[in-house]
Amino acid sequence: MNASASAPGKIILFGEHAVVYGSTALAVPVTQVHVDVEVLDSPRAGIFIHAPGIELHAELNTLPADHPIGSVILKMIQRFDISPLPNLEVNISSTIPVASGLGSGAAVSVALIRALSSFFFHPLTNEQVNDLVFEIEKLHHGTPSGIDNTVITYAKPVYFIKGQPIETFKVGNSFTVVIGDTGIPAPTKESVGDVRLLWLKDKTKFEEIFDEIGQISLIARRSIESGKPELLGDLMNHNHSLLQDMTVSSLELDKLVQAARDEGAMGAKLSGGGRGGNMIALVDQAKAESVASALISAGAKHTIITEIS
Ligand code: PMV
Repeated sequence: MNASASAPGKIILFGEHAVVYGSTALAVPVTQVHVDVEVLDSPRAGIFIHAPGIELHAELNTLPADHPIGSVILKMIQRFDISPLPNLEVNISSTIPVASGLGSGAAVSVALIRALSSFFFHPLTNEQVNDLVFEIEKLHHGTPSGIDNTVITYAKPVYFIKGQPIETFKVGNSFTVVIGDTGIPAPTKESVGDVRLLWLKDKTKFEEIFDEIGQISLIARRSIESGKPELLGDLMNHNHSLLQDMTVSSLELDKLVQAARDEGAMGAKLSGGGRGGNMIALVDQAKAESVASALISAGAKHTIITEIS
């Protein structure tokens, strides 16, 4: 017996950080990168996990109880009431860079939960998968808004407000985004924690920023739905400057953002938790390659060109 499942990466187009405080955000799946999970019956006793990308080759019982992958497997076995523990091989491969704002953690959880639910013949709805992954995100990321698990579970563009019913939306005209990776791993938990401290010190200032970002997300959604993605460039630039005010950009991110604009991108901003990780640039399709090369020259470790449609 075997079962498999995949989950895409994601980028946040607008609204990161502000979304933690109830403001709106837009996120889209990135299918060029993905996590693939395969679950197989094993001839040997135990549950063996292989995730070569993070150099993990271990039997479940040898992992700490709060291990992000081990704890998902145990949680699912308990939920499906599987006893005694089955003998399994769990193979996890991923092309999503870790801790870089592309949703690798949530994608591993989504693919793993779907592969296990299929292996044990316990179907789960999208809503159930989303709720389970959100629980896991909370264990490892402090106070996540839930945007990562939502966009990755539904694999559709999402207009997200914390705690509100899921709203997916249509893309009127497709558009091209270049993603540039600083190569600097930056745990989201830290930047979210730092923003919280700054917010506690000056709630008026920070709530004004969050509201302004919420307005940007709303206008961006309308522009995308009405087939005018070219309007997103200025909105990205504005959103980036507000993220700088929040202290979550970095020299490396600013350098990549500037390089993309200098090469003719219509707009650019950091994407995700910030401080490191990825930035995104809106480009004419014809300019995508040259903007990607300019990002590499400015220090990006790698780039992805993605069509949002
Ligand atoms: O997981 P990342 O790095 O793409 O960022 C998540 C976005 C934040 O708004 C910074 C945090 C959250 O939980 O929404």
